[in-house]
Amino acid sequence: MNQITPASAFQTAPPALQIRGLDKSFTVAGRTLKVLEDIDLSVRSGEFVTIVGASGCGKSTLLRLILGLDLDYQGAVLVDGAPVQRPGLDRSIVFQDHRLLPWLTVEANVAAALRRSSLSRAQKQAAVREHLDLVGLTPFARAYPAQLSGGMAQRVAIARALVNRPRFLLLDEPLGALDALTRLRLQDELKRIVEHEKTTALLVTHDVDEAVHLGHRIVVMQPHPGRIATVLAIPEAARRDRSSRAFIALRDEVLRLLGVNTGTGAEPRPTGAPGTFEKRDHQERQDA
Ligand SMILES: Nc1ncnc2c1ncn2[C@@H]1O[C@H](COP(=O)(O)OP(=O)(O)O)[C@@H](O)[C@H]1O
Ligand SMILES: [Mg+2]
Repeated sequence: MNQITPASAFQTAPPALQIRGLDKSFTVAGRTLKVLEDIDLSVRSGEFVTIVGASGCGKSTLLRLILGLDLDYQGAVLVDGAPVQRPGLDRSIVFQDHRLLPWLTVEANVAAALRRSSLSRAQKQAAVREHLDLVGLTPFARAYPAQLSGGMAQRVAIARALVNRPRFLLLDEPLGALDALTRLRLQDELKRIVEHEKTTALLVTHDVDEAVHLGHRIVVMQPHPGRIATVLAIPEAARRDRSSRAFIALRDEVLRLLGVNTGTGAEPRPTGAPGTFEKRDHQERQDA
């Protein structure tokens, strides 16, 4: 169950996703705002890439472009070398809010994602059962979303995202609204599930600990305009053990890159939970 694929395993695989020279702007009321600048990123099949960066640095926008929801950009977003032209069953997303349909049961919510699938009825039923089992929710198949805890609802959202066996699972702060304990549990669950499904995952998170625990690599972004400051490989020891030296060293390095004081110098520790950074940190830097 705790089999972990080392980062080195991906160095020989061809890139499944390539983002090249990506620039993205929005024009609002005649003013053009550059949101993403010169993004270059290659992700290999089966890799788990985590993305951290201040609010507003374009993380969600980047996921939307990978999904194919917005084609208005410069540069290239390629899957297996071909430009992404529209949303497809090969790419799915989980958001911070579960977005389940309240009038459908858990199993019907998961089944709804199979609407456009070419599977037979029996195959669809089997896929739903299998994915509810994968997220540990078989006993709740007939429950309604309102009867679930926040963590359980996110598990359903994860099952729904995976039921088509997508190549890419995009996760936009999927655990952001959960309490700390549920969040820690679901981090381990998510890691197990992604390994099991052999999905290529991109996770956006505000939680640096989460990014280091889950990723093979961590992308650190900077705002105004959003760009990649650096991409760091996450050593196996750091992924495996949240109390390891490797974990703490990498976490502190990422926090420093994000402009958060880690408390190792003379300055006071930042407020908020350890390992997290908030919009305020970014705001203060802007105001400074
Ligand atoms: N549809 C849109 N129209 C105009 N501006 C947008 C739109 N979507 C996002 N933005 C702006 O782009 C920037 C990046 O947003 P977003 O990708 O949501 O950042 P993040 O997910 O990193 O917090 C923000 O300044 C946001 O206000
Ligand atoms: Mg966002």
